[in-house]
Amino acid sequence: MKLQRVGILTGGGDCTGLNAVIRAITRTAIIKYDNAAVVGIEDAFEGMIFDRTCELTIRRTRDILTLGGTILGTSNKGDPFAFREYAADGSIVTHDYSDKVIRNFKRMLLDCLFVIGGDGTLKIGYEFYKRGLPIIGIPKTIDNDLEGTDYTFGFQSAVQVAGDAMDRLQTTGRSHDRVMILEVMGRNSGWIALEAGIAGGAHVILIPEIPYNLDRVLEKLKRREAGGSPYSIIMVAEGAVEEGGAAITRESAAARLQGVAQLGGVGYYLADRIKKEIDLEVRCTVLGHIQRGGTPIAFDRVLGTRLGAFAVQAAAEEKFGNMVALKTPDLSLVPLKSLAGKVRAVPQDCQLIQCAESIGISLGR
Ligand code: F6P
Repeated sequence: MKLQRVGILTGGGDCTGLNAVIRAITRTAIIKYDNAAVVGIEDAFEGMIFDRTCELTIRRTRDILTLGGTILGTSNKGDPFAFREYAADGSIVTHDYSDKVIRNFKRMLLDCLFVIGGDGTLKIGYEFYKRGLPIIGIPKTIDNDLEGTDYTFGFQSAVQVAGDAMDRLQTTGRSHDRVMILEVMGRNSGWIALEAGIAGGAHVILIPEIPYNLDRVLEKLKRREAGGSPYSIIMVAEGAVEEGGAAITRESAAARLQGVAQLGGVGYYLADRIKKEIDLEVRCTVLGHIQRGGTPIAFDRVLGTRLGAFAVQAAAEEKFGNMVALKTPDLSLVPLKSLAGKVRAVPQDCQLIQCAESIGISLGR
């Protein structure tokens, strides 16, 4: 197909590498596909609903490779099929704007819409594909919890940030003989905690996939103390759960609008539980959105660039309804249909976990 005009949107939580993808799509469409026009859709699907767009050119995308965030803006609460808004009386009302998106898509005369996002955004993309829109998905999330791809871009940068934080906690923890807890993101999967925990020399790593037993954690801390190392570093994923317990969540207006529980607080919960049981000082750090911001590391710049360029090629070949994916060392296409609603958890006995346990890291089991 002769590509004439393509659209790009970024949806869900931001991460590093989004701008590398936007730049790669824009440059490939213009350089390789004879000056195809590139339309940036602002603020995820909200831009499709409320017609907020901008023109993307080589000049506009010139300096964004190293820039964190997304120049298009994003949103994790704008599902056009069930758009939640506050009514005047403060209640939440839901609207179906999907027909409006389809009308706007046709009016924009797009040959393809590149939907860059995590499971929620890609699921919406798939719903529009089923309704006849030519969609190509591009996998993004710091959580690395998408099926069908070895890695999502943004993940390795988040691991780097969390690993750097661990390095800093190591020195202060050792100086004060304290138990230092670092809570990281990842929703209901433990990829960030596991990789950054190994990279940062954690003594305990707690992930959602393996409910932890507090006694096992305490045993590890006591063993270290008895061996002459009263300081310990615990890496805990925000979605980690104690055996027989539930994930710790926070109330917030944003979470109400998203219609999902907002994870967070397990680090402080754990600190309180440990303080009651052992006579050591315990401190907790919650890394939060720092993991999502800043400059992408080289891995994410390269992956984002590859995925963006490959996505344009897939569009020119009319391979719609697919997500571009990394199947090391190559890129490939994975049907969006096969991904809908799936989240990739850390397999309980994968080599990474075996590796962690074989070097003495406690997984709390
Ligand atoms: O999915 C990415 C992510 O950063 C999760 O790790 C985290 O639970 C969530 O988004 C936070 O969302 P928000 O930006 O709405 O606080």
